[in-house]
Amino acid sequence: MLIPVEIEGRAYPIHIVDEGLVGLGPAVADQLRPGPIVVVSNTVVAPLYLDQATASLSAAGFHPSTVVLPDGEVHKTLGTWAGLVEELIGLGLRRNTPVLALGGGVTGDMVGFAAACALRGVPFVQVPTTLLAMVDSAVGGKTGVNSTRGKNLVGAFYQPRLVYAAMETLQTLDQAELRSGLGEVIKHGVLRDPALFELCVSAGARALARDGAVLGEMVERSCRVKAEIVAADEREQGLRAVLNLGHTVGHAIETAAGHGRLRHGECVAMGLVAETAWCAERGSCAPEVAEQVRQAVRALGMDLRPEGVARDALVHAAGYDKKLSRAMLQTAVVERIGAVHLESVGLEEIPRMLSHLS
Ligand SMILES: NC(=O)c1ccc[n+]([C@@H]2O[C@H](COP(=O)([O-])OP(=O)(O)OC[C@H]3O[C@@H](n4cnc5c(N)ncnc54)[C@H](O)[C@@H]3O)[C@@H](O)[C@H]2O)c1
Repeated sequence: MLIPVEIEGRAYPIHIVDEGLVGLGPAVADQLRPGPIVVVSNTVVAPLYLDQATASLSAAGFHPSTVVLPDGEVHKTLGTWAGLVEELIGLGLRRNTPVLALGGGVTGDMVGFAAACALRGVPFVQVPTTLLAMVDSAVGGKTGVNSTRGKNLVGAFYQPRLVYAAMETLQTLDQAELRSGLGEVIKHGVLRDPALFELCVSAGARALARDGAVLGEMVERSCRVKAEIVAADEREQGLRAVLNLGHTVGHAIETAAGHGRLRHGECVAMGLVAETAWCAERGSCAPEVAEQVRQAVRALGMDLRPEGVARDALVHAAGYDKKLSRAMLQTAVVERIGAVHLESVGLEEIPRMLSHLS
């Protein structure tokens, strides 16, 4: 299946295939001329998929070099990124040498930012291997790393030349990581796709049991939602900010807990519950909508609040969120499942949102 991301002047396809990485090389060759390519993965994904990826690329005429990064959100830092850029340049990178990210959102974000900066930009390919990366982070061109002051505070908008989601790679994913990805799937349902939200409720258990048909439909529907939004507003001048639903609270939880302690999608799911409850409190949606979201998150076995994270730490962490500008917060407000709008609200709303975590 092919889903186009129709960004003006930089359109690219998302391939969603049932199998593993056998078709990767031909898909990349459709977009980029065969020649040298650098495949960047991490210490967990490389032993599982690096050989498959390089074999397919080689068979399609590419000459792959490889780089293996340390695994985990704690390594999504300027330090790791700088080391990667140096390594890419040391490999003899040219302006037309593609760099391919093979892994989850951490790998994709960091490698994308390196591809954006090395030689002022080389072609970039996303090969997401987590559910979260397939449904969200690999699509839309947000790349970057964390600052000590908050999540993703250093980065660039840099679109990939293609995204290749090989569904079979999800079979080796840790159960907790799979669940984390479902947090962003629910978000896409709440934003624009009531049928996707309903699928999360009715078939969440099958998704967690790795039913390929259910996961495939979730990835496809999520990618369509995200592709449509980023095509309309690539650089988050307006509409794209709705994708941050759940993230004001979610990022605060991630930062307050310490990067890497809680999974991104789990934090977003807690954020979705709290922010939708805040919307209901303000009267923008019915209380039943907030309850539906809470039930959907709960049914997937996700926590509704972060254990052992102090409220003060959350408020402090939310204060450093990059979405804040001129003492206002641009936030997504839920009207009903499948319909949200953006509003600028005062910063005093942040503690109110956070109060719905308890
Ligand atoms: N750029 C964006 O638009 C965007 C959107 C959402 C999230 N993000 C970022 O994405 C990151 C989270 O991504 P994530 O949840 O994919 O985390 P992750 O990249 O850390 O992956 C989770 C774990 O699964 C492992 N893994 C990956 N694929 C595997 C596979 N197929 N089999 C076995 N293990 C595998 C990874 O090595 C890691 O240990 C966060 O840093 C978040 O900020 C970015």
